[in-house]
Amino acid sequence: MLKLAVMVSGGGTNLQALIDQIEQNKLLDVKIEVVISNNKNAYAIERAKLHGIAAETISKKDYETFDKFSEAFLKMVDSYKVDLIVLAGCLMIIPENIVVNYKNRIINIHPSLIPSFCGDGFYGLKVHEAALARGVKITGATVHFVDEGTDTGPIILQKSVAIEEGDTAEILQRRVMEQAEWEILPEAVQLIAENRVVVENNLVHIKK
Ligand code: GRF
Repeated sequence: MLKLAVMVSGGGTNLQALIDQIEQNKLLDVKIEVVISNNKNAYAIERAKLHGIAAETISKKDYETFDKFSEAFLKMVDSYKVDLIVLAGCLMIIPENIVVNYKNRIINIHPSLIPSFCGDGFYGLKVHEAALARGVKITGATVHFVDEGTDTGPIILQKSVAIEEGDTAEILQRRVMEQAEWEILPEAVQLIAENRVVVENNLVHIKK
């Protein structure tokens, strides 16, 4: 059984995709042990509670120093004894101590085809605004391992989505979620649960 900690900050539609696929027996041998948010008002927390999943909030604002926050954050995650941390619509900076202690055991869903439209400042609608401004004809989503950088870890899965005439950032975000994010995030978790994801020289190989 692959045990997850899912980290969220907002609406939690990617979390919902994981919950739904687990409950529909489409995502097998996976259990969400805890949902952690930096935002106590995140609807993602409500989604967790509606499905009987433990929910925690933690914010660096509640600690005197970043180090004390990082220590408390790591202790919180460790207490759930999870195998994989999933960043799903998570705007939290993941402290280095967690990235180091959970090397190649943290994945993130990013709403573009990395290396386009990613890195510092590219999150949420901003990603789609940049894609529309550049005039790209396809965009999509990427699931990648989290390393010390921002959206720089080894890429696990990607899925492309066509941009259509008249798209606004909001319309495009929804299409990327529906047609890409909500599909490849559960798919990546399933591959990891089946031990089919191998990282060599910072490149991901999916075993048959
Ligand atoms: C999504 O576009 C996701 O790719 C990005 O945050 C947005 C909201 O995600 N990381 P969610 O609805 O909170 O899962």
